[in-house]
Amino acid sequence: MAKQIKIREAVDKDLRDIVTVWKRNIKTITSASDIFDLFRDFKKYFFVAVSTVSNSKDGDSVIGFVGGAIRSGHGHISGIAVDKEYRTQGNGKSLLNTVERDFLAKKLEKVTLEVRISNRGARRFYEKQGYKRAYTVRRYYADGEDAVVYAKEM
Ligand SMILES: CC(C)(COP(=O)(O)OP(=O)(O)OC[C@H]1O[C@@H](n2cnc3c(N)ncnc32)[C@H](O)[C@@H]1OP(=O)(O)O)[C@@H](O)C(=O)NCCC(=O)NCCS
Repeated sequence: MAKQIKIREAVDKDLRDIVTVWKRNIKTITSASDIFDLFRDFKKYFFVAVSTVSNSKDGDSVIGFVGGAIRSGHGHISGIAVDKEYRTQGNGKSLLNTVERDFLAKKLEKVTLEVRISNRGARRFYEKQGYKRAYTVRRYYADGEDAVVYAKEM
């Protein structure tokens, strides 16, 4: 049966899956309760990528998400991940573009994010989406790793 990936707004019942995908893919100390708080405050900036199998009775399964937020008056990407077997198929880009469109609709013309300095794959991904390296925050993460802050003017 053909599988299709769709991007849609996140709803309350997706929260458990978002936490699972977040924890499975992002090296983070963000706790489930931090994710709940972000979701409660910024739900309209959360989107999920779901795999649907046509003619199947099974529901959609969440294979990726993006969590946006508003920070200091601009758009912010709190987290984005796509499960391994669904990567490099354009799903990350679709998720990011979807939340960016929402930011723009709310006149938020700048988007920022932090990423681990060692996360070369994600950094390349963001650079391909037009994000520019802004500055480095030394020892930003609890394990002592530096963060690179990226920004995009839309
Ligand atoms: C970062 C991530 C979300 C990208 O998702 P994805 O679905 O693989 O991305 P896409 O397929 O939409 O890729 C878009 C572009 O980025 C490029 N890209 C994606 N991952 C890349 C990587 N690891 N190295 C180099 N380029 C990469 C793709 O080749 C593609 O380029 P193109 O537009 O020239 O074809 C995914 O790799 C992931 O979940 N990583 C683990 C979690 C993570 O590190 N999140 C970021 C920190 S919060």
